[in-house]
Amino acid sequence: MENYMKLEIAALSENESFARSAVAAFALYLNPSISELEDIKTAVSEAVTNSVVHAYAGGGAQNKISIECRAEKTQEGGVLHITVSDGGCGIEDVEKAVLPFYTTLENDERSGMGFTIMQTFMDGFALESEKGRGTKVRMFRKLGGNREGERMNA
Ligand SMILES: Nc1ncnc2c1ncn2[C@@H]1O[C@H](COP(=O)(O)OP(=O)(O)OP(=O)(O)O)[C@@H](O)[C@H]1O
Ligand SMILES: [Mg+2]
Repeated sequence: MENYMKLEIAALSENESFARSAVAAFALYLNPSISELEDIKTAVSEAVTNSVVHAYAGGGAQNKISIECRAEKTQEGGVLHITVSDGGCGIEDVEKAVLPFYTTLENDERSGMGFTIMQTFMDGFALESEKGRGTKVRMFRKLGGNREGERMNA
């Protein structure tokens, strides 16, 4: 069985917590554990923050971020696929951008760990970007397995 949602938000830092909570609420369809939900929220937060602070250089209500989720129920539990995309400035060198500690906003208290966190907390990660056109982060997380004890029911 499959489930789907698409959310479009203004690129405002105020919407970051809304975005990660909305994705977490959607993920309840797959009956995740609390720690799985936390991982997903962390990854979504990093991706959305990047679109606000980098793609749109601080954000703005006229700029949009799109968050698409596809949930797949499997025998083991499920898989949640998440795509976060923006139409912002894009990334010149994606191979460099994903390296730990690489940041173009050093003076801004950025540590350059966002993509590393997304890769660590999710089971799959892909970055596509075109300079001047925008960026798309695709990730997926497998849910379930043998953790019945800490399962959350929606
Ligand atoms: N959506 C985006 N649009 C344009 N550039 C981006 C985008 N996301 C990331 N980048 C570029 O990739 C770099 C690395 O991103 P990453 O999230 O790993 O680190 P950071 O955002 O700089 O720091 P941190 O996430 O630790 O606060 C950024 O500094 C920025 O140059
Ligand atoms: Mg970041």
